[in-house]
Amino acid sequence: VWDAIWLDLNAVTLEAGAAELGWIGDAALGVAGGKLAWIGPRQQLPGPPASLAREVHSAGGRLATPGLIDCHTHVVFGGNRALDFALRAQGVGYQQIAAAGGGIRSTVKQTRELSEDGLVAAALPRVQALLKDGVTTLEIKSGYGLDVETELRLLRAARRIGQLLPVDVVPTLLAAHALPPEFASDRAGYIDLLTRELIPEAAKQQLAVAVDVFCERIAFTRAECARVLEAARAAGLAVKVHADQLSDMGAAQLAAEFGALSADHLEYTSPAGVAALARAGTVAVLLPGAYLMTGETRPPPVAALREAGVPMAVATDCNPGTSPCTSLTLASTLSRALFVLTADEALAAVTRNAARALGLAGSRGTLQVDQQADFCFWDLQHPREFSYWLGGNACWASVHRGRRRSYEPTRH
Ligand code: NIG
Ligand code: FE
Repeated sequence: VWDAIWLDLNAVTLEAGAAELGWIGDAALGVAGGKLAWIGPRQQLPGPPASLAREVHSAGGRLATPGLIDCHTHVVFGGNRALDFALRAQGVGYQQIAAAGGGIRSTVKQTRELSEDGLVAAALPRVQALLKDGVTTLEIKSGYGLDVETELRLLRAARRIGQLLPVDVVPTLLAAHALPPEFASDRAGYIDLLTRELIPEAAKQQLAVAVDVFCERIAFTRAECARVLEAARAAGLAVKVHADQLSDMGAAQLAAEFGALSADHLEYTSPAGVAALARAGTVAVLLPGAYLMTGETRPPPVAALREAGVPMAVATDCNPGTSPCTSLTLASTLSRALFVLTADEALAAVTRNAARALGLAGSRGTLQVDQQADFCFWDLQHPREFSYWLGGNACWASVHRGRRRSYEPTRH
């Protein structure tokens, strides 16, 4: 007997290669042990629902999708950067603010002041907003500590969030995000600290599953990033790259050389970079929130990525500096409006391809038997409406590991 069965729904499975996103009209979903035990047309159920499961639920004719996966966020931080945004409206550029010691470094200052509890408390409302809008798996990067102690604290706060709320957190170490002021005249010393101390320690304490780097003129060079990524590989961690966001750094090629799970942003990626991603099977993670809020006018090479068969994911990039975005469905709609993804691409981008960007395609991102039982019900008629509404929240209910969620934190 299954734990539960859900009836009165239309499902899109997002199974790779399936026509119309794997649409199943009048479908049924069976859940057992936190996994999907059955999915198909209701008439093909092997018996009357009440004989198959302990609980029978109705979704009232709604649309069911896999639980959403936000595969790129910096959601744990102190303070905010509303003032930077106001400065940009007066014509001060993002890179100019960063060069003057503001930008990421001003968030670092406010983040270092917070305890682990303070960091969790600051992030919880943002994470709750993401969850209410359908996110069931959430990547969280460090990167606003920039010293061993604070980076590890950020990762512990990320882990706590996954214990307090019904969501799976995937922690990523992004200590190569900006050069901290203490190392202003010793770049190599900071890279040494990351490769010799911080990365091995984060791996040993199992606080991160991946290492990310910001390869950019205002951050780190290709050579510096390569040293960090080598240390990540040596520690057995996966690799991700903030690539070519503000200029063509050849960072997509760097990501490909290291067999990165994903290369993210990609506004300035060249045709050679796209080809390298395709060969490596690296996912392109597109971040329309950051593009919009920084006033960027050059979109990532979506047509070339599509042509080359590079899987495209979309994420919120939730962060204080460039993308204070707490809705993945909004990011999905923006990817269509700003980057001209198709409706099918925009939905796959926050489910199947986002799972792949986290190395989790085997356990989530589609509605298939044996996948984790993470799914959402939407007040939508057709999947193309999913990435059509600009804000609002059509998520009627969501199920994480087989359980219908409420969004209040449990005590810990
Ligand atoms: O993804 N690109 C680097 N990191 C963030 C921005 C961080 C910040 O400005 O605080 C991003 O856009
Ligand atoms: Fe980012």
